[in-house]
Amino acid sequence: MSSSGAFAFSNRSTGTELEKLHCVTCPPTTLKRSELRLEPSERGIQCRRRAREKLHPRVMHSLHPEKVELFKSLEGWAESTLLPLLKPVDKCWQPQDHLPEPSSEGFFDEVKELRARAACLPDDYLVCLVGDMITEEALPTYQTMLNTLDGTRDETGASSSPWGIWTRTWTAEENRHGDLLNKYLYLTGRVDMRQIEKTIQYLIGSGMDPQTENNPYLGFVYTSFQERATFISHGNTARHAKQYGDGRLATVCGLIAADEKRHENAYTKIVEKLFELDPDGAMLAFADMMRKKISMPAHLMYDGQDEHLFDNFSLVAQRIGVYTAKDYADIMEHLVAKWNVANIQGLSSEGHKAQDYLCSLPVRIRRLEEHAQSKVKKGPKTGSFSWIFNREVALL
Ligand SMILES: [Fe+2]
Ligand SMILES: [Fe+2]
Repeated sequence: MSSSGAFAFSNRSTGTELEKLHCVTCPPTTLKRSELRLEPSERGIQCRRRAREKLHPRVMHSLHPEKVELFKSLEGWAESTLLPLLKPVDKCWQPQDHLPEPSSEGFFDEVKELRARAACLPDDYLVCLVGDMITEEALPTYQTMLNTLDGTRDETGASSSPWGIWTRTWTAEENRHGDLLNKYLYLTGRVDMRQIEKTIQYLIGSGMDPQTENNPYLGFVYTSFQERATFISHGNTARHAKQYGDGRLATVCGLIAADEKRHENAYTKIVEKLFELDPDGAMLAFADMMRKKISMPAHLMYDGQDEHLFDNFSLVAQRIGVYTAKDYADIMEHLVAKWNVANIQGLSSEGHKAQDYLCSLPVRIRRLEEHAQSKVKKGPKTGSFSWIFNREVALL
């Protein structure tokens, strides 16, 4: 269905700032008058977001004021434990270390070699690599997310608090990931860069809502999970690149995966500390995030054409083993073990319930996943991706 065809408008003025709109693909919702000026496809995004907000009213600032103080009291700990997990700029790799050198005479030969290696990459792999790159490129959204958190946000944009320093330096390290993948993919000549750039612009414009309620307990459970998810995903794209014969790309993805692992280590240390200081609060937060399900940071992905872009990208990633539902259960299981959830003491009855829920969850997720997989194996299905000039890729 074309996106413009997805809308039926009622231009009846309500006399208020709101205009009733009906999108046939979304639950009934309302859009602000300013949103009427958007392209129909963009209205679709606004429409879905507002519908979601109606279905799941957002809880905000759920952190109790005395717990804001807890994060204040952890500044010394953050300085001595977290900040050393970041690397000094001089010790970091830079994208240019792994790309053809444009000032060198051998530049064109290096590009030719890169393109020859990339010629062996299949379309389904390219879709996953592009999706991963786009996810990295939406970094402004993730820095924003960290700066929504009460007690740890960077209050000035250049705060000297260890939490603020962490967020900025983490962002600066992460910025290399999208840069490197973007330039690499550009040089391969295998992908439609304009469509990719549009997708990035849409995605940053859409933002994300991880349902972390401005609450660093929830926020750091979310980032612990996500850093491990990206570690797994980039690790798998590295492994596949090697199998396809692009060793340089394997190195690139491997380096990015190693950064993600280091970041995962930092975020899981924060939650570990919360379990030590406030076992009940940490347990309830972990269970709350898992009940809500960890939404992927790029879940609002859109390229101006495909309303199901993120779902289709996820299906390809699942099919070729870049990021799968099994990985979700594995991450869950890993975090339960890492935080020693089964043996945490000093819990309220609510905390005990959350503990039981968390300990049984990996098995339940696996069972649900097996059930879902047995259903989807029924027939071949393909989808086209604008990122690779609308070529068809198997989804199932
Ligand atoms: Fe990253
Ligand atoms: Fe990351």
